[in-house]
Amino acid sequence: MRDIFLRACKGEKTTPVPVWFMRQAGRYLPEYQEIRGKADFLTMCKTPELAAEVTLQPVDILGVDAAILFSDILIPLEAMGAGLSFKEGKGPIISPPVRSRKELERLHTIEPERDVPFVLETIKILRKELSERVPLIGFAGAPFTMATYLIEGGTTKSFVNIKKMLFSDPALFRSVMELITEVTISYLSAQIEAGVQAIQLFDTWAGVLTRHDFRDAALVYARRIFNALRTRGVPMIYFVYDGGHLLDLTRLAGSDVIGLDWRTDIETALKVLGKDVVVQGNLDPCLLFLEEERLRDRISEIIQQGLGAKAHIFNLGHGVLPEIPPEKVRLAIEMIHELSS
Ligand code: CP3
Repeated sequence: MRDIFLRACKGEKTTPVPVWFMRQAGRYLPEYQEIRGKADFLTMCKTPELAAEVTLQPVDILGVDAAILFSDILIPLEAMGAGLSFKEGKGPIISPPVRSRKELERLHTIEPERDVPFVLETIKILRKELSERVPLIGFAGAPFTMATYLIEGGTTKSFVNIKKMLFSDPALFRSVMELITEVTISYLSAQIEAGVQAIQLFDTWAGVLTRHDFRDAALVYARRIFNALRTRGVPMIYFVYDGGHLLDLTRLAGSDVIGLDWRTDIETALKVLGKDVVVQGNLDPCLLFLEEERLRDRISEIIQQGLGAKAHIFNLGHGVLPEIPPEKVRLAIEMIHELSS
């Protein structure tokens, strides 16, 4: 198996640098669109053959060094008893949102084999298909990000409902977080048992918190998850989007790898994190619109900065956007391999 991704996770400087992209399976790929034209997104997530097929597309088409399970961070919320739907052009909807203890009491812990069997089945298919190729990454949303969807009922700009609960009813907020944390530990444990070889925790919205509140409302729960999973022996990545002001705290969560969004360049991040850290990132996804030579310069700059870390896994600073031409994504991956060889 091509194992540079796993070796880099463990702190080895590899030649070339491994690369995978968040949202590497998605709407920018015509091959994805073809399947998506026949099935809605949630059906794709819940049909192991389809989920496995789209997981493999970027491995076949782009030559990435790791596959990431095709699913969504919101899948466990539905398994807990929340109503989940995706409205075209509007993003996810959780209905009804959880804003009282009564609404929280309708939710329950999960038994992955019973409540999300399709995720475990997808992983088993993928491990067979990928055996001699690249490792498989599993994932979950971090508790603060999950709570955001649960409490806001969908995507938000102000985060007023979750912050209102955090500050005006901290006991209820804590109960929500404890339930999600417990669910996430059993969900990720089941993914590992089914065969994922690394995991990433996505904290997409924790960046809206001050340092003080990040510690109490996000970090403690993420740390609990990494602590619980450490003995399982798979590398763990913590990605806080828009978390430049939180970097030193992010490290305290106890993951093996720190994911960086594009706002903080690696050199600056390492001044805060120290050099004894494995970093993942962090090309601005929109830089993939650059013409080839300029893109090469920007990729090269990131690879150079990554050399200052213990090890570096190349990624984007957030997911691939649907507007990016797939040939450009493929070209970027070729360049990353070539420039780090
Ligand atoms: O990275 C991958 O290729 C693996 C699959 C994956 C998806 N979502 C597929 C997806 C992963 C790891 C996620 C994580 C996820 N989902 C996050 C955290 C990462 C991030 O983006 O910050 C969040 C916040 C979500 C919630 C979510 N799912 C939103 C807000 C949306 C709608 C936005 C959009 O792009 O339409 C989704 C839908 C979604 N998840 C799609 C895909 C491929 C698009 C679905 C479609 O085909 O219409």
